[in-house]
Amino acid sequence: MSIQIAIDGPAGAGKSTIAKILAKEKNFIYLDTGAMYRGFGLYAIRKGVSFEGWDETNADERLGGILDDFTMNIEYRDGSQHVVVNGEDVTDMIRTPEVSLAASKVAVVPAVRLKLVELQRKIAADNNVVMDGRDIGSYVLPGATVKIFLTASAEARAQRRYIELQEKGQTDVTYEEVLEDMKFRDKNDSSRKFAPLTCAEDAIKVDTTECTLEESINRIKEVVESKLC
Ligand code: DC
Repeated sequence: MSIQIAIDGPAGAGKSTIAKILAKEKNFIYLDTGAMYRGFGLYAIRKGVSFEGWDETNADERLGGILDDFTMNIEYRDGSQHVVVNGEDVTDMIRTPEVSLAASKVAVVPAVRLKLVELQRKIAADNNVVMDGRDIGSYVLPGATVKIFLTASAEARAQRRYIELQEKGQTDVTYEEVLEDMKFRDKNDSSRKFAPLTCAEDAIKVDTTECTLEESINRIKEVVESKLC
């Protein structure tokens, strides 16, 4: 049986940075499931889906039948994950604020989740994985070998994301805007009915509000090693 390490938590908690490092060290596959929701979010934008007034009661109808013609493949090149939607590699197009918001919106639709979860489970069955997301320990891989819930205060997460954006040259966004977006997505992700962002009962919670990246990584490694041996 494959080894499955699930890392869940809210946006900006450092899941992907830590999961990538861990996967590389262990020689496991790293699966960023947020990138999959982003891939579908981009697809929905391109199909002209309107997110104005979007909520769980009208989301399905708003998507129309676009899920029927949607295909996704996850490919690995030089150790990096590529998201391929209907044959097109969209990896470099899914990190914009517009796609972040669309991803959070489409993620409330059970049919979308079921389609992506099927692929996530298949990848985890065939490979040793470090998988990060919102519902991995609680829904996608309930029997995962290690479950970690990584969190930090909204302010600390917004501050980290803000610095990251500044370093990337995206200086037109303020800290307050980043914080507001983070709180909006937290609420959206944790309040949906189907497979919301939640800490699985048997997950180990790690709060990194007061930690440096190095301290967070060390803490996670300790947890992983204690579970794997
Ligand atoms: O981790 P991220 O910011 O790239 O995720 C983008 C969105 O996808 C996020 O707002 C919630 C959604 N998501 C989800 O609902 N379930 C997951 N397992 C991963 C992400």
